[in-house]
Amino acid sequence: MIVIGSDHGGRALKDAIVAYLRERECDVNDIGTRDDNSVDYPDFGIRVAELVSSGKAEKGILVCGTGIGMSIVANKFPRVRAALVTDEFTARMAKEHNNANILVMGGRVLSPDQATVMVGIWLDAAFEAGRHQRRLDKIAELEDRLCGTDAKR
Ligand code: RB5
Repeated sequence: MIVIGSDHGGRALKDAIVAYLRERECDVNDIGTRDDNSVDYPDFGIRVAELVSSGKAEKGILVCGTGIGMSIVANKFPRVRAALVTDEFTARMAKEHNNANILVMGGRVLSPDQATVMVGIWLDAAFEAGRHQRRLDKIAELEDRLCGTDAKR
C-alpha cells in the first residue's frame, strides 16, 4: 500500500499523483488534505511517516509547497528514508541508491506531468544494494544509537 499526504501547498499535485496511481491500479491511501485551506504540513507528514516507519505502509509520498518541510518531518522517523526529488534523475537515484521509502516533492516546484513521470520512475526502479546497502546500514546503526530503536529490523 502507498500512503500519500500533502498540505495545501501540495494538494493539487498530490491529487494528480493519486489519480496517476489509481490509473496504475496501485493500492493508495490518500490521507488528505482535501482542499486549499491552510494546514500545517507536519500534521500530514507525521501521519504518512508513521505508517511507513511502522511497516503498515510499504511506501509513502509527501507533497508540500517546496517538499522541504515534509522531508524534515519524515526523516525524523526510524526506518524512514524520505527523498526530496526534483527531476527524473533524482527520482531514479532515490530508489537505486537510497532505497527511499518515501518520495517527497514540491507542489510549487513541479508540474503534474513532471511529478507523475517521476513517481513512475521511482516505483519501477530497483534498489542496487551492494555498497549502497552498507551505507543504509550505517544510517540504521545511527538511528539505533540516537533513538534506541532497532532500526535494522
Ligand atoms: C506552506 O505555505 C509552505 O510553507 C509549505 O507547503 C512547505 O513548502 C514547507 O516546507
